[in-house]
Amino acid sequence: SVPSLASSDGFIQCLSAAIPRQLLYTQSSPSFTSVLVSSIRNPKFSTPGTVRLLCIVTPTNASHVQAAVVCGRRNDVRIRVRSGGHDYEGLSYRSARPEVFAVVDLANLRSVRVDQKAATAWVDSGATLGGLYYAVSKASSQLAFPAGLCPTIGVGGHFSGGGFGMLLRKYGVAIDNVLDATLVDANGRILDKQAMGADVFWAIRGGGGESFGIVLSWQKQAANFESMYLGTPDTLLPLMRSRFPELGLNRTHCKEMTWIQSAIPKDVWVKIFAWLGKPDAGLMIMDPYGGKIGSPPESATPFPHRGGVLYNIQYMNFWSAATDGSAQTRWLKDLYAFMGPYVSKNPREAYANYRDLDLGQNVVVGNVTSYEAGKVWGEKYYKGNFQRLATAKSKVDPDDYFRNEQSIPPLPATK
Ligand code: FDA
Repeated sequence: SVPSLASSDGFIQCLSAAIPRQLLYTQSSPSFTSVLVSSIRNPKFSTPGTVRLLCIVTPTNASHVQAAVVCGRRNDVRIRVRSGGHDYEGLSYRSARPEVFAVVDLANLRSVRVDQKAATAWVDSGATLGGLYYAVSKASSQLAFPAGLCPTIGVGGHFSGGGFGMLLRKYGVAIDNVLDATLVDANGRILDKQAMGADVFWAIRGGGGESFGIVLSWQKQAANFESMYLGTPDTLLPLMRSRFPELGLNRTHCKEMTWIQSAIPKDVWVKIFAWLGKPDAGLMIMDPYGGKIGSPPESATPFPHRGGVLYNIQYMNFWSAATDGSAQTRWLKDLYAFMGPYVSKNPREAYANYRDLDLGQNVVVGNVTSYEAGKVWGEKYYKGNFQRLATAKSKVDPDDYFRNEQSIPPLPATK
């Protein structure tokens, strides 16, 4: 629902009583715009017309996050949570629907506490992946954590959708290595793994951002670092002997895996390269899966892209502010359609962290997000896990306070 001006005022008053004034930025604050754009990664969404938010709250401790939720619910103001701001559709700071909302920006909650002996760490959602990697590597050169490549990504959004990077073949996705978490629920309570229960703890590890509450921090198991080498032991071993003789690497330490077994015939590749050579062409990024990421069953976490998945394909294009991007967008849509016969079908799968509103958007019926309408996009991201995610949503947020255009709907009582 769209709150009245009165309820917006009530929200700001309620917040002002609970958190220091300097952590609250309303539209009239001099630094409102600079705080808003500070982590916007998609310039398409930094224009004033697309952003209609009421205020930005920048908590420095957990009680501020709780206060934002309590004040929001009391005054019928919804919240968008932002960690690193990398959401492809900008849903952490903008609404595609005409609603008034506030942003809770977690950038100040970014500590990383590594327990070197136990090889575990607690990381706050507002930390960046770069900050996390730095803290882990500073604590020990033997420890690492398997997550994405781009160092400015926020832990909060990244872990919410899965999180893969260079170590995926050996250690799987980030959420495969999460041991515990703290969540602020729709009643403003702080819940740990035990208090939130098995279904909700399962759901927040890959079930997408925003739907279940605000994740404050995550406990992670760090992995012993091993790097990736593309090639055979015949070329790797002499290289390692000359560069890192102290490691004493020999053939028994090596395990060869096939890098790619292409499911795409050669003549189709010729056509794909023709697409990439067209005017207004962008990129097609293929991340090879396999190894550890494929071993858990699809239902182990909400992230279902496991055994049998060869690559995660990402289609991307860029344009300058001087054009409207329609030619580049058309190229993207046409290539996506062309690839249909050669990729996963029924459903055509999609990665939740590569958010795409073209896959479908939620429909709100009677102030609750429709489960049936959600299935259209939800089964692409989560396959058979979508229903269990809706069950978890019914447990932790039955009133559907935390919602966006692609949040998990509560499961209707009749299901
Ligand atoms: P942001 O703050 O925008 O949040 C994303 C979503 O999660 C929003 O819906 C938000 O409301 C919600 N959310 C954020 N914090 C939350 C919290 N604490 N609790 C609950 N919900 C929360 N992915 C990958 O797996 N491997 C990779 O290598 C890359 N590389 C990459 C590069 C670049 C340049 C971009 C822009 C993106 C990627 N990604 C990626 C995708 C990335 O993992 C995805 O966009 C993440 O959701 C970003 O998380 P942020 O916290 O930065 O986003």
